[in-house]
Amino acid sequence: MGVRRFAGLAAGLALLWGAAALVAGSQPADEQAHQHLAPAQARMLVSPLDLTRADLDAGKAAYAAHCARCHGEDGRGTAAGAALALPVPDLAAADQRAHAEGEVYWVVSQGSPRGVMPRFDAVLSEQARWQVVAHVRGLAGIRVAVSEGDGSGYVWDLPPGFPRPKVPADNPMSIEKVELGRHLFWDTRMSVNGTFSCGSCHEPRFAFSDDKARAVGATGEVHPRSSMSLANVAYSPVLTWANPTQRRLETQALVPMFGEEPVELGLSGMEGELLRQLRAEPDYQRLFPEAYPDEADPFTLLNITRAIASFQRTLISGRAPYDRYRLGLDPQAIPAEAVRGEALFFSEALECFHCHGGFNFTETVDHVGKGFAEIEFHNTGLYNVDGAGAYPAPNTGVHAVSDDPEDMGRFKAPTLRNIALTAPYMHDGSLATLEEVIAHYEAGGRAIPDGPNAGIGADSPYKSSFVKGFTLTPAQRRELIAFLETLTDEAFTRDPRFQNPWTAGGRP
Ligand code: HEC
Ligand code: HEC
Ligand code: HEC
Repeated sequence: MGVRRFAGLAAGLALLWGAAALVAGSQPADEQAHQHLAPAQARMLVSPLDLTRADLDAGKAAYAAHCARCHGEDGRGTAAGAALALPVPDLAAADQRAHAEGEVYWVVSQGSPRGVMPRFDAVLSEQARWQVVAHVRGLAGIRVAVSEGDGSGYVWDLPPGFPRPKVPADNPMSIEKVELGRHLFWDTRMSVNGTFSCGSCHEPRFAFSDDKARAVGATGEVHPRSSMSLANVAYSPVLTWANPTQRRLETQALVPMFGEEPVELGLSGMEGELLRQLRAEPDYQRLFPEAYPDEADPFTLLNITRAIASFQRTLISGRAPYDRYRLGLDPQAIPAEAVRGEALFFSEALECFHCHGGFNFTETVDHVGKGFAEIEFHNTGLYNVDGAGAYPAPNTGVHAVSDDPEDMGRFKAPTLRNIALTAPYMHDGSLATLEEVIAHYEAGGRAIPDGPNAGIGADSPYKSSFVKGFTLTPAQRRELIAFLETLTDEAFTRDPRFQNPWTAGGRP
């Protein structure tokens, strides 16, 4: 059945319920007219089921037994339901798709805040409730993925509450491939002059990002953009800051390896030489055949990128103090200041959670059990150089790929996990600190008084309506930062499985 249990979810929900008073029913009018009964934090709850046909059948049976008398077999409601103090919503209506599965789970567990719908947390087990949720999503026309397993037998080490990453069918996970990928990720033979590896710009202590405003490649060339954290990149359905076409880790790795504008690792034209060097390495003479046991000659570029992708999928971060607090494992895990900051983050006034919500603190996620990947790009009003919303070239966001004016300045909202470790911030590293980031959002867009990029970001016609500005007291600013700091996962940055395997033996 593939259930990963996690202790303390009930307690975690109790905490969510506590926070609900602050945010319940506080959705902005422009999102949709539809009401959300669950608090915004409920969106973070993700089904632990790797859904099978048996789960769906069980969900249907439980729904028939417990829900159909009010909601009807088809979700359209019954006469009994219509006669209640509050009429039952139509669970088959399209607007139900606005709910995240975590919200449905919350309503099923806690009942409606106004008490007309009973709560089922004592009636149905956690597993049964998630099964019902899958059935209810199906009523609203959301296709729920049914896993038959990827057959690889690979066992993920996932934090509590984390869903299973999607893995391409042509590159199943294996321990051997991950280990080969780790060696390649850290191998300086992967650069034109033997000085650089992926890890040079994606360092564990910076949550697999770097500390520069803009990345610098093997030959000293400065990249137009800032390096990105690779934490939880397995859940990202679209890669890099603003390229909607970059969908697979296997293909993305070719960009730093062979890209010429800018040069990162600088391997263009050196493919043969690279393979020759790797073949000569005794460790690889063992690692490549172990990772690709069915291939006569496993030393290929394709196999290099597959292994690096497999390694990157294991870079999963979800054991921060905030997780321990949210799941109810340790109510003291974060300071009171951060609890207040959490309420601000999830508030209607600040809107942070609209783009940085969910278990990975970004809405742009995909995983096993999710019917479709959510891919969104937003303009946060960082620039407005011509008064018409322009961003300075070449960093015009999705516009640089699509050439559509509407895409000006639209970037992926990155995960905020480990955000305290990844300064400077934004696609071009132009905000040095979290204080500066908050000032940017407070102003509803950044104002640059002079210089070549002068302009009032708040006035940009392309800016997201969720970036509307707000005012915080100095104490509230500290609270919001204190909350963001609780997303730092020290165990992730120190995890021995991710570290450079070459430094110990002194090679290469
Ligand atoms: C006694 C009748 C009754 C039963 C039984 C019942 N519900 Fe409800 N349900 C309601 C009512 C009434 C509401 C609306 C509550 C409100 O607006 O506060 C509701 C709301 C919901 C919602 C929220 C929909 C929205 O638009 O926000 C979901 C989802 C839901 N029910 C699912 C279920 C499931 C699943 C079960 C069985 C486990 C169930 N309900 C059992 C009466 C019932
Ligand atoms: C010169 C520094 C540098 C090197 C070396 C480098 N990267 Fe990156 N990486 C970056 C920058 C900068 C970005 C953002 C690129 C963009 O938006 O165009 C990035 C983005 C990424 C992303 C997208 C992350 C996300 O959340 O979307 C992945 C994946 C990635 N790099 C993997 C790798 C791999 C694998 C290697 C080695 C083969 C590598 N990088 C080498 C600087 C570097
Ligand atoms: C409309 C969606 C949206 C909203 C609302 C939003 N953000 Fe962002 N956030 C983004 C995008 C997109 C980026 C990257 C923008 C860029 O680089 O130009 C970003 C970047 C950031 C970064 C820097 C990330 C990095 O790795 O450099 C932080 C920190 C951040 N946001 C925090 C917040 C906080 C705190 C709030 C609430 C006050 C908030 N965001 C509200 C979309 C949003």
